[in-house]
Amino acid sequence: MASFPIVRMRRTRQNEKLRGLVRETHLNVEQLIYPLFIAEGLKEPNEVASMPGIMQWPLEQLGREVERVAGLGIPAVLLFGLPEQKDEVGSEAYNPQGIIQQAIRRIKAATPDMLVITDVCLCEYTSHGHCGVIKNGSVQNDESLTLLAQMALTHAEAGADIVAPSDMMDGRVGAIRHTLDEHGLSGTPIMAYSAKFASGFYGPFREAAGSAPQFGDRRAYQMDPANAREALREIDLDIAEGADIVMVKPAMAYMDVIRRVRDRCDLPIAAYNVSGEYAMIKAAAHNGWIDERRIVMEVLTGIRRAGADMIITYFAPDVARWLKEE
Ligand code: PBG
Repeated sequence: MASFPIVRMRRTRQNEKLRGLVRETHLNVEQLIYPLFIAEGLKEPNEVASMPGIMQWPLEQLGREVERVAGLGIPAVLLFGLPEQKDEVGSEAYNPQGIIQQAIRRIKAATPDMLVITDVCLCEYTSHGHCGVIKNGSVQNDESLTLLAQMALTHAEAGADIVAPSDMMDGRVGAIRHTLDEHGLSGTPIMAYSAKFASGFYGPFREAAGSAPQFGDRRAYQMDPANAREALREIDLDIAEGADIVMVKPAMAYMDVIRRVRDRCDLPIAAYNVSGEYAMIKAAAHNGWIDERRIVMEVLTGIRRAGADMIITYFAPDVARWLKEE
């Protein structure tokens, strides 16, 4: 193999045109998904303190925000709901007139081309803040499946384009697929939060979504951050149950997992650039310690290089604007 001085790696780095020709990884607006929080009973948009620039939206003003996002060329939003009423079994999660079900209908009526993805999980709807129903102090797997499937069904019936279960109960992808198919919704894809780790990076989200567990933590159902082989088993199981898109979450501290999943399977992979990743960059940029635009583009390019096809990110509107400027 030739080496220096025959080989000079710097030859193809001389100017932007040359660098463009040899660039291996591209970040495009059509790969971005923007999360939105919709709060029942809210009058005015409410900024999330730990996530500057991110709002909880009242239903009435959601249309305006979705139009702005659509205008930037972002193809999809991911919806999270904050109900007024919470109870032990998360009843509002599968109420056909619930906050998310109403939000879906509004978005699809006003902006039909916008892809609406919905988070399917009980934690924002239960009084205890856990992702399933509780018995004897622990989250019940099989009993939660029926409720999650019902939740996904009401979302799909309201017009959701994709349902995305994030609860980490075993068997939920299969349960949701079965229920959707039974109700004539065999065309609705499932984006499975397959490898979702029990992460400290979700802290700001729990403020945004009002979903912090009231006792204990989520380690008995979300994955141990130390395990990558186990993530592949989760991925295999979700594929077997009918997942159309698999997800790795969080993204930055788990890029090796994204890569291993990419090498393992041919399904589209989503990566979730979560709230804590957003908050850290925002805080450092606010202090003038880093160049926000440069860091965000580098992080998202890194996530793509690791193997993600699409990225869920709170930076989506900024990135869409920056990509236009480039
Ligand atoms: C619901 C859910 C969470 C996130 C997405 N869906 C929080 C959690 O599991 O505690 C986190 C998203 C983020 O941090 O941006 N289960």
